[in-house]
Amino acid sequence: MSDKLVQLLSRQAGEYVSGEAISRELEVSRTAVWKQIKKLESKGYVFEAAPRLGYRLISAPDKLDYDTLHTQLAGGRYGKSVYWYETIDSTQNRARELAEQGAEDGTLVISDQQVQGRGRLGRSFVSPPGKGIWMSLILRPEIPLPYTPQLTLLTAVALCRALRRVTELEIGIKWPNDLLVEGRKLSGILLESTAEEDRLRYVIAGIGISVNLEADDFPEAIRERTVSLRMAGNRVWSRSEIVHTFLQELEALMGLYEVQGFEPIRLLWEALSVSLGQPALLLTPQGERRGTPVGLSPQGALLLQEADGSIQPIYSAEMA
Ligand code: BTN
Repeated sequence: MSDKLVQLLSRQAGEYVSGEAISRELEVSRTAVWKQIKKLESKGYVFEAAPRLGYRLISAPDKLDYDTLHTQLAGGRYGKSVYWYETIDSTQNRARELAEQGAEDGTLVISDQQVQGRGRLGRSFVSPPGKGIWMSLILRPEIPLPYTPQLTLLTAVALCRALRRVTELEIGIKWPNDLLVEGRKLSGILLESTAEEDRLRYVIAGIGISVNLEADDFPEAIRERTVSLRMAGNRVWSRSEIVHTFLQELEALMGLYEVQGFEPIRLLWEALSVSLGQPALLLTPQGERRGTPVGLSPQGALLLQEADGSIQPIYSAEMA
């Protein structure tokens, strides 16, 4: 019934249709119409209701479905094969299964909702339906195993460039790979790799972007630290356009990396970083380190200038 209701209101584009006319056409009670309107609103439809005039459709939710993605991504290196789900535990798990079954480089797993989305350090990752991009990309790069963290930095640069291109918002990278706008987290990246006898077999690049979420969609405990593109830009953004633009940027940067190595990626990362030059507290597996990040090493470690002036490479840490 909700499909018919949307069709009916879309046919009258922008015009009010009375509750009575809707209930007559759909052969249901006016209470049932009202319930359907509420249900559709929870899925992202926006209606205007006016006494005596009825309802009119203001906007439909942004669609991110298999057909849209498949058509848009055909022909690119990434997203040639798309696995789309309406809901899933975590796209990381599904991508790993597919990689183990031999799925090719560039296979994309994407879901409208995740019920067990996960972030770095075993944290959970908020992934409600209809509003974000929750995706995992299978990569099979031919690089030495110790270079794997460079791919995290490369992915962050590609994503930052793509989001800036689409939204024109001032988005920056917080080391190692969170994207921030107005100092709040907008997107996270989780790279999980599988190796065999010192050889990299595959990498699953998991990317979560809070596109059209509203403040209420984030749990209260993290609300102050998080933001969405919708909240920052005051409008709803097309998720399929963002996926497409990101995969284009990734393809271009990976091509550059394969030919010229990490140096151009390092320079781009430094230019987009909001962490450099700001005093920071780093929680490393060996304990706390304080200092000022001043750049990336040629291998991709964070260079931290400490109080005594020495510069230390940091390979893995959490920035407080
Ligand atoms: C982080 O910020 O800690 C990383 C978040 C990564 C979230 C993405 S959403 C798609 C993919 N599936 C997951 O379960 N996690 C990643």
